[in-house]
Amino acid sequence: MELPFSEPYKIKMVEPLKRSTRQEREKWIGEARYNLFNLRSDQVFIDLLTDSGTGAMSDRQWSAMMIGDESYAGASSYYNLKNSVKNILGFEYFLPTHQGRAAENVLFSVMVKEKDVVPGNSHFDTTKGHIEFRKASAIDCTIDEAFDTTVYHPFKGNIDLIKLENVLRQYPKERIPFLIVTITCNSSGGQPVSMENLSQVSALAKKYELPVVFDSARFAENAYFIKTRESGYENKTIKEIVKEMFSYADCMTMSSKKDGIVNMGGFIAMKNEELFKKASVFSIMFEGFITYGGMSGRDMNALAVGLDEGTEFDYLNSRISQVAFLGARLKEFCVPVQEPFGGHAVFVDAKKFLPHLSVEEFVAQTLAIELYVEAGVRGVEIGTLMADRDPVTRENRYPALELLRLAIPRRVYTNNHMEVVAVAMKNIFDRRNEIRRGYKIISEVPIMRHFTVELEKL
Ligand code: F0G
Repeated sequence: MELPFSEPYKIKMVEPLKRSTRQEREKWIGEARYNLFNLRSDQVFIDLLTDSGTGAMSDRQWSAMMIGDESYAGASSYYNLKNSVKNILGFEYFLPTHQGRAAENVLFSVMVKEKDVVPGNSHFDTTKGHIEFRKASAIDCTIDEAFDTTVYHPFKGNIDLIKLENVLRQYPKERIPFLIVTITCNSSGGQPVSMENLSQVSALAKKYELPVVFDSARFAENAYFIKTRESGYENKTIKEIVKEMFSYADCMTMSSKKDGIVNMGGFIAMKNEELFKKASVFSIMFEGFITYGGMSGRDMNALAVGLDEGTEFDYLNSRISQVAFLGARLKEFCVPVQEPFGGHAVFVDAKKFLPHLSVEEFVAQTLAIELYVEAGVRGVEIGTLMADRDPVTRENRYPALELLRLAIPRRVYTNNHMEVVAVAMKNIFDRRNEIRRGYKIISEVPIMRHFTVELEKL
């Protein structure tokens, strides 16, 4: 019999989790105004709010932290990270930032102006926020298959080339600063983009003489899916695939808190020196001097190692197999989920789960609250709350999908934890008809409202 796969590491430090009662959780979520971001972490048993900055670092990373160089300028830690970015991702120039949205802020300060349009595949909320904040618009050109959770497509993050070319034809070149490809595509369910699609997007961009930016938070998970799903890549290493992926990008933004397996950090990397020089000005203004940009030397050292560990097949295989384990258990319980399962998360289709609720009642948020009350498990809504209002009409935007994302931190939870999550979802599914009403907003801010929104039960 073939031996089963298991984690390529053992655990030498643990952190206790606090259990609570349903009664306590009902009280706490009410006090949090039904916004899961307002809960204290000790009110949560299994935290699947995000896989961002919540991973466990390795002994190699912790030892690299100990020799971090905290010099303001020219720290050895900066050069360690610069080497990793060059060797693993292939970019000559890079600027550290304190996290991914800071990378967007610096880069878009150079590239995006009022009335611009930025086509891409389901832009992440901070990306869209930074575009719309500059009075520009994000145009979603993701393939239609991504919006039907029941259709199987190995690369649901792919860009529809016809939709993309229509945008490129419709707007003058001066109003399109770049194309952006998010790998993997978080908003459509942690779905990967194929190498073929990356190369076709790059060819189209060349035809229209436009640069391509990759939003690369989960680039290594994307490479894993290329290796395991795209023909011709099965015998390549993850690092070879990563290099080829980035050969199609002119520039990248990175939230290092995901596939960099660090708790804080980000960067911008580019091939063009002039762009690097322009972005450096904004980096110094918003983030810090160009050799630290909001990161401590310790963190840059840990990230240099994290980029290496995060692009190892065995690690990615155990991580993505854990996500698939949760997905498969949910499926066995007939819980409707986005398929194929994502790289960092399983996305529950809340409209299919609670078909009797209207989208005006925030269906995915309703399900997220139910899961918290059921078992102390915190997921996150990727639906109408997160989609925000249209910046011009101020009307609610209703996205095609209402998803409850169960994002799994890297190297943190065991499959027993996943089993608890799956059974909790089953229990809710069994009593789904008793959930009669959702929620209404009592307070919200004009942009990225979901972080601070306050809700009331209907
Ligand atoms: N791009 C993508 C695809 C992301 O998923 C995120 C963050 C960012 C950019 C911004 O990076 O958080 O470091 O500023 N996603 C987190 C999440 C917050 O939960 O999915 P950041």
